[in-house]
Amino acid sequence: MEAPPKEERPLLLVDGSIPDGPLEALDQVAEVVRFADETELDRFIRRRGEKVVGLGAQLTTAVDDALLARLPALRIVADYAVGYDNVDLEAAARRGVVVTHTPDVLTDATADLTWALILAVARRLLEGDAVARSGEWGGWHPRQLLGKELTGSTLAILGMGRIGEAVARRGHAFGMRIVYWSRSARPALDRELGAQQLELKEALGAADVVSVHLPLTDETRRLLDAERLALLKSDAILVNTARGPIIDENALADALEGERLMGAGLDVHAEEPAVHPRLATSERTILLPHLGSATIATRERMAEVVARNLVAVLRGDPAPNPVPAPSP
Ligand code: DGY
Repeated sequence: MEAPPKEERPLLLVDGSIPDGPLEALDQVAEVVRFADETELDRFIRRRGEKVVGLGAQLTTAVDDALLARLPALRIVADYAVGYDNVDLEAAARRGVVVTHTPDVLTDATADLTWALILAVARRLLEGDAVARSGEWGGWHPRQLLGKELTGSTLAILGMGRIGEAVARRGHAFGMRIVYWSRSARPALDRELGAQQLELKEALGAADVVSVHLPLTDETRRLLDAERLALLKSDAILVNTARGPIIDENALADALEGERLMGAGLDVHAEEPAVHPRLATSERTILLPHLGSATIATRERMAEVVARNLVAVLRGDPAPNPVPAPSP
């Protein structure tokens, strides 16, 4: 079927950093304008904001009430992420705008990266790398850079959703006992992995490794504060590939400096792109720049999901991946 002339097609605004290939399908049904940064976005909205019906945004764009107010014809925000804390869901719902995200396609990539961090902290990979490169390595030594054995130890998952489950399955394969703190019980998973749902306090106290897989909400912001971090064993490892503000970074830096934790692996940070200065200089941290879903194949699949949701809503079909509606 021939595409309608450009001037008759609905107008979509899509972040220019989302991979191109999967978005080509959109050209058949819409006029697609890509924006490079917030300045270009702002400039375009000034000129043609009232015509935009779909927005493909990534997680560094704050889709707040003020932005939504400038897009009166908007029908969908397709977020290029599984976590959608950059979108004001309540404002979107009030304006009848559907919000979608990219679940499932990034589960394995993020679980793999979580495990890269767990292993790197447990086996002190960065310190070992530095010694090997230093030219000062004196050879094998029975006491050099001793790490933590994972087999037989306990992995606590905070948030047993898709990614939490994928991390737990990998932990089970490593011979770890799995405990979790989560809104919902997972009886089938409990049976399969021998996992156990616990209260937060108990899960933190039992853990040798804690891995965070919660969404960022008012309830989870600074969930891991000084009081809760104090419940961890002094040789525990904390890993976060979810959202930075879930951990009180000052309290974490205090715990690491006070040797009340073995170490932390952090892919996400409270004030991205800034990294907490004391965490950045700690020898007990391994820090990454928010790489959880960063594989070529996953980022392409995330773009496919964005395109699929935009096309569906333009056609008047239900969006395949809507985010849960905000509670009243
Ligand atoms: C997400 O999708 O929420 C990740 O943080 C980035 O892929």
